[in-house]
Amino acid sequence: MELVSRMMDGSLSYDPKNRLEPVLSGSVVQRSAKIELGEVPMFEGCSERQLRSIAKIARVVDTPAGTVITRVGEPGSEFYLILDGTLSVDLSVGKPVALRPGEFFGEMSLLDGDPRSATVVSDTPARLLVIKRENFSVLRREVPDFTQILLVTLSRRVRHAEQRADRMGAASATL
Ligand code: CMP
Repeated sequence: MELVSRMMDGSLSYDPKNRLEPVLSGSVVQRSAKIELGEVPMFEGCSERQLRSIAKIARVVDTPAGTVITRVGEPGSEFYLILDGTLSVDLSVGKPVALRPGEFFGEMSLLDGDPRSATVVSDTPARLLVIKRENFSVLRREVPDFTQILLVTLSRRVRHAEQRADRMGAASATL
């Protein structure tokens, strides 16, 4: 089901100001989105009814390159799924981590209520599917294996963070 038709029938909400979070910088451009929700890898297993539920709580935002989507230490109230473009997660140590279409971010603050753990910036123009905190439970309810996807992703991020810390520790020990 096309998101644009959700826009037309009013079931897909578009923020007229296209706001993300208060920290977002740069001019965010709204364009008409022709996206099949069912083609988004995370939603491949969803039924039509589930896709309709997701379309009701999602909005699509287009951002230019260089837009700060989340800023470390600030409160977070939205979850982001990358539809197009590449973003960087700037961590306190080491090189930024690249995030690509199909990947998501912003889940940590929604899960634990703590401030954003990292700054995420768009490296290229990006198209994001944005879900507000109050609707995060809809994703958990409607997307098959959503909790499993979250757990696997978090486990990978912890593992990568540990590997990076080990590499940095080994590098500083050899200096
Ligand atoms: P959150 O803390 O809500 O906001 C910043 C986001 O960056 C965070 O959620 C994760 O989605 C993402 N993030 C934080 N650390 C990493 C990492 N090591 N690798 C990939 N993404 C990360």
